[in-house]
Amino acid sequence: MEKYIDLKNHNDYTKLQNAGNTIKNGGLVLFPTETVYGLGADGLNADAVRKIYEAKGRKQDNPLILHISEIEMLDRIATDITELEYKLMHAFWPGPFTIILNKKPIVPNNVTGGMNTVGVRMPSGTIARKLISYADTPIAAPSANVSGRPSGTNVKDIYEELHNKVDCIIDGGDCEYGLESTVVRVINNIPTILRPGKITPNDIEKIAGIVNIDKNVLNKIDINEKVLSPGMKYRHYAPKSKCVLVYSDSNNKLVNKIIEISKEYNNPLIISSTENKVKYNIKNIIDVGHNDNLMEIAKNIFTTLRKVDSYSPDLVIIEGVKEEGIGLAIMNRLIRACEYNYIKI
Ligand code: TXA
Ligand code: MG
Repeated sequence: MEKYIDLKNHNDYTKLQNAGNTIKNGGLVLFPTETVYGLGADGLNADAVRKIYEAKGRKQDNPLILHISEIEMLDRIATDITELEYKLMHAFWPGPFTIILNKKPIVPNNVTGGMNTVGVRMPSGTIARKLISYADTPIAAPSANVSGRPSGTNVKDIYEELHNKVDCIIDGGDCEYGLESTVVRVINNIPTILRPGKITPNDIEKIAGIVNIDKNVLNKIDINEKVLSPGMKYRHYAPKSKCVLVYSDSNNKLVNKIIEISKEYNNPLIISSTENKVKYNIKNIIDVGHNDNLMEIAKNIFTTLRKVDSYSPDLVIIEGVKEEGIGLAIMNRLIRACEYNYIKI
């Protein structure tokens, strides 16, 4: 039986000592961060890291992020850090920001998918930070979900698929942001966004004066192409049901297109903004939040995607959002959930 530590309604963080020991002893711990839940193990112990890949059914070439609690931990795992990289870390840590750096030999090859770089993040979530401190080692942690499924943003959503694969579960309630961290690699002194998140292109540009967005953030990639971030090439976040993403800058056009598509199906499900849901005269609607509050939609999106299969829909029609600010991150996840089935009008 896995240990269960309930920190939803109180903050007796001393209980985390126990979970820290589980990590030290090579075990797997499910824990909350401010972005999504992580499936954590000692990032410097190759045997412990192997268990993460087994539990998730994750491809070996898809590298993991190392989570640190103090800037001192960085020296143990990364080298040749540039001034700009330090500047970005100081600006966005602790927080939902991952930076790809040159790794030191102590980092096992199965953390980095055989690459000579390592992704590093200092989370702001108190539980995550205390857990790393107690474990006294960088924690390797992918999002807590079986590979291909939407990331877990609360324990209830992922309990069934993961509880018998972990040694300890820390329940910290709902995650604050609900989308994974922004992943950045500095290339030729230009920060390049490999995966968008809460830290937006604009936020990065303010610090670095310049920012690039990798073309794979919104475009389909050829499976044979060499990509900068291996995670981008795999099927992701997808419900079992067929999904289509629809977006227009004109809200009227968007609603009309969705109504038109929905009429062609017997049991469609619409994932709608709060503002638009009264406009669709159909049985199956999930409200994902206000379209003038993208933080709310970001927070709800994964838990919403996890609900859709229970409607047995013959098509899931998802309202897109403007690809701006955190909207870029929402659209990056939704395009993958729909397997690039995207209508922009
Ligand atoms: O918010 C988050 O980042 C969450 C929480 C738990 O911290 N973690 C997370 O991990 O989303 P994961 O494994 O689901 O996604 C990590 C992404 C993958 O797309 C992976 O390919 C990329 O980061 N990545 C990790 N290390 C990399 C490296 N050395 N080079 C390029 N991409 C890397
Ligand atoms: Mg993931």
